[in-house]
Amino acid sequence: MKFSTKALSPERVKTGCLVLGVLRDAKRAGGVFGDAARIADRASSGALRAVIAHGDLSCKPGSTLLLRDIPGIAAERVLLVGLGEPADLNETAYREAVRGAANALKDTGARDATIFLAETKIGKRPATWNIRQLVLGLRDAFYRFDELKTQKKSSPSVLGAVTIAFAEASGMLRAAKVLDEAAATADGVDLARTLGNLPSNICTPGYLADEARKLARQYRLGIEVLERRDMEKLGMGALLSVTKGSHLPPKLIVLRYSGGSKGRAPMVLVGKGITFDTGGISLKPGAEMDEMKFDMSGAASVFGALRALAGMRAPVNVIGVIPACENMPGGAASKPGDVVTTLSGQTVEILNTDAEGRLILCDALTYVERFKPEVTVDIATLTGACVIALGHVASGLFANDQKLADEIIAAGDDSWDRAWQMPLWEDYQEQLRSNFADMANIGGRPAGSVTAACYLSRFTKKLRWAHLDIAGTAWKSGRDKGSTGRPVPLLVRFVLRHTGAAKD
Ligand code: BES
Ligand code: MN
Ligand code: ZN
Repeated sequence: MKFSTKALSPERVKTGCLVLGVLRDAKRAGGVFGDAARIADRASSGALRAVIAHGDLSCKPGSTLLLRDIPGIAAERVLLVGLGEPADLNETAYREAVRGAANALKDTGARDATIFLAETKIGKRPATWNIRQLVLGLRDAFYRFDELKTQKKSSPSVLGAVTIAFAEASGMLRAAKVLDEAAATADGVDLARTLGNLPSNICTPGYLADEARKLARQYRLGIEVLERRDMEKLGMGALLSVTKGSHLPPKLIVLRYSGGSKGRAPMVLVGKGITFDTGGISLKPGAEMDEMKFDMSGAASVFGALRALAGMRAPVNVIGVIPACENMPGGAASKPGDVVTTLSGQTVEILNTDAEGRLILCDALTYVERFKPEVTVDIATLTGACVIALGHVASGLFANDQKLADEIIAAGDDSWDRAWQMPLWEDYQEQLRSNFADMANIGGRPAGSVTAACYLSRFTKKLRWAHLDIAGTAWKSGRDKGSTGRPVPLLVRFVLRHTGAAKD
């Protein structure tokens, strides 16, 4: 899908579908119109207002009404999109309107569309925010994953070109740059979603390594893949203890994008890449276990962020590190009570083999010290407890540096891919006490996502480090089961803002 921005007269533009936002006014039949809708309504001698006055559009955020052949309007179709009450016009209402418009557009035969939604002022957000959300929202709605179905559900939408239009030119400052950024971010989200959606018999550690090689070729990234013998030589006893029960070889993937100045220390992203988490000998219950194919979503988000940043040629240095393996039971698998020596030299008693994410991450986090990173962020579907704490709205955020935490919160707010900070206080550390090793890999039921982060903090003392627990945000369950691509938008925005490369 190609995007462009333009200042246009809504009534005169020749387009397959003209999309106009409408606010509801309880006192006035016919709603309240934004700039573009008001102009179009006047050109149609009040035809649009009349339709709304008859009650054919509820004007709720995301509600839509498709019209054809409106006199006085050059467009083939007009799609009216509700934005809700003027007083309630916020980020959520805007995003719902975008989603509603996208879903309606999917079902039309329009090959191109001209959308007047981004001109709507949302709180204190600049127009560039609206543009980014519009691009990401449309791409999100048009994403399909049907490569594993022999009968495709429906033919793909024919919509190929979208103009993000403004009735006034002033709203479009620096829009071209923002379009590039948003489209590249959407490409990254797509990649993360597809890797997440692929089942574990296809998306294996080896598949992820091949995918990394493909990405490296396509975007000229540096790449290195560590094999089992490399991990053994280094002494990654924790990572190796997780992969033991699997028949598939583990991989530690290092991808390097060097778009920034030579001297600048890299930002490092570490993604949990458990391609399937059965729990190991501490076997998970059967219900919904299929969703543990998504346990490599942290890794997928690192792939996605790198693809986005390389795709937009961002002037940044970023290294992605992905420990990838399966967590399986079996005769060779780790057992509760086993003690292993991590790359850091610290020993760990594995009291529960299902707390495997922290075991692969702790060795990866020690490994990244060699890159002398400016900051390190790990991204992991780490704990079910995080889903209980924050649901599916915010990712859990932990950091050993408050300035870094604040930056990530701000990037989450900016991309509307939000994170909420949780405590990393000393007081929780005692829950990790072990009688037989330096620490246990679990901290009991209370504050499960905090003790998981506390565990990781013991391996990041030399780093400015943050941890994102995306267990609740990386995928959806139920009818809409599938990867969300989060937190790629957050990560991209964070990297751009941190390096001063964000242009708006
Ligand atoms: N991958 C899971 C976390 C998870 C569970 C994410 C459910 C999303 C939904 C992780 O490896 C895990 O199993 N964590 C355990 C930790 C426990 C044994 C301390 C958990 O959350 O139950
Ligand atoms: Mn687990
Ligand atoms: Zn897991």
